[in-house]
Amino acid sequence: MPAPRPGAVLVSEKEIAARVAELGRTIARDYASANLVLVGVLQGAIPFVADLMRAMALDLTIDFLRTSSYGSGTTSSGGVQLVTDLSVDILDRHVLIVDDIVDTGHTLAALIRTLEARGPRSVRTCVLLDKTGRREIPIAADYVGFTIPNVFVVGYGLDYDGLYRNLPYVATLDVI
Ligand code: IMP
Ligand code: MG
Repeated sequence: MPAPRPGAVLVSEKEIAARVAELGRTIARDYASANLVLVGVLQGAIPFVADLMRAMALDLTIDFLRTSSYGSGTTSSGGVQLVTDLSVDILDRHVLIVDDIVDTGHTLAALIRTLEARGPRSVRTCVLLDKTGRREIPIAADYVGFTIPNVFVVGYGLDYDGLYRNLPYVATLDVI
């Protein structure tokens, strides 16, 4: 069977750029003089966090962490592990976790719990995409780019089996 390929465009490059600019303005306003740490979740958040940080007229620190979850394929299971940690101390800092998508909610919930334990002033979340229909943990991201239906998507950081993260838009995955 041939590998699935990117199919129809779900969120275009232009739509992403406009929404990221809007989110950047909103977040910059909310965190004015707040000593913000942007925490990008590798690898999916790379394009989003790179664009978002440049849309924020704000003094900020950027750092990254990496998670892995048990279970493979196209869903994440409950067991979320931190495999690469931050290098900055977030004690007394305002933290904004930036990820590509919130799906079941396990990843964001685990990250909030882990970072909250380090004594930050606040922890909030920002995701490009929100699949509200798939939640297993009742969690809402504080900043959401686009709410999307329950379809598997790739591009702008999101992958299928390590591929298609470099597409400049978000597309559905066509299983041929
Ligand atoms: P959650 O823990 O189920 O909320 O899922 C979060 C992670 O699952 C994301 O950071 C993605 O890596 C992955 N994921 C969820 N839905 C998709 C999708 O449609 N395409 C690609 N990756 C996805
Ligand atoms: Mg991810």
